[in-house]
Amino acid sequence: MAINHLELLEKLNWRYATKIFDKNKKISKENLEILIQSLVLSPSSYGLQPWKFIVVENQELREKLKPVSWGQSQVTDASHFIVFTTLKEIKSSFVDDYISRISEVRGQTKESLVGYENMMKKNIVEGMNKDYVFHWNQRQAYIAMGFLLETAALLEIDTVPMEGIDPKAYDSILGLSDSDYGTVAAVALGYRDPNDKYAEVKKVRFSKDQMIQVLK
Ligand SMILES: Cc1cc2nc3c(=O)[nH]c(=O)nc-3n(C[C@H](O)[C@H](O)[C@H](O)COP(=O)(O)O)c2cc1C
Repeated sequence: MAINHLELLEKLNWRYATKIFDKNKKISKENLEILIQSLVLSPSSYGLQPWKFIVVENQELREKLKPVSWGQSQVTDASHFIVFTTLKEIKSSFVDDYISRISEVRGQTKESLVGYENMMKKNIVEGMNKDYVFHWNQRQAYIAMGFLLETAALLEIDTVPMEGIDPKAYDSILGLSDSDYGTVAAVALGYRDPNDKYAEVKKVRFSKDQMIQVLK
């Protein structure tokens, strides 16, 4: 049964970019698993999933990340902190891995997937320049971020998406500098501190008419 309209809207209004988290309130294992599933189930172009989501449980690492995140307290104080990273380029071997995974999950032969494989390789591996691929992959990551934020809201778990971070410094601290993945953004998750005044401020949005154009 679909979720009730009023309840859905209420949750979307309840969500806000949390500035102060309650340091003592932790997300349960069960809720964390659902949040993680929202990332796993996110759609991506071609279904390629050019991402890795790093759940930083190590508090020392989070302390190191804070100064390279404009000193934002959410990095250390939220219950959980997830760094979004994506592939810096898409190699032919990554497409091969994806084809193998489709074949394994759906029981299709790799031969039957050759057309799809060649199309992806032609369009992405050969057809896009490297800088563009990283940007393209980042766009995929933002879809997953949206899924995570909305799922959290439905579970009444607070979040803040964070671009106020230094991706290069994150790569260094998280040991990614020489890896295929690069930091894009992060999301802190947990429960709002009762003193966070931002929970009460009105949402600033352009009017629906300014944002939505209906062509008939
Ligand atoms: C991609 C992205 C990056 C953001 N980065 C930060 C951030 O680094 N720190 C922060 O406090 N808020 C950050 N925000 C929160 C926005 O400022 C906030 O979502 C916006 O003002 C709308 O308010 P609301 O989310 O409370 O409705 C970010 C939001 C998005 C979508």
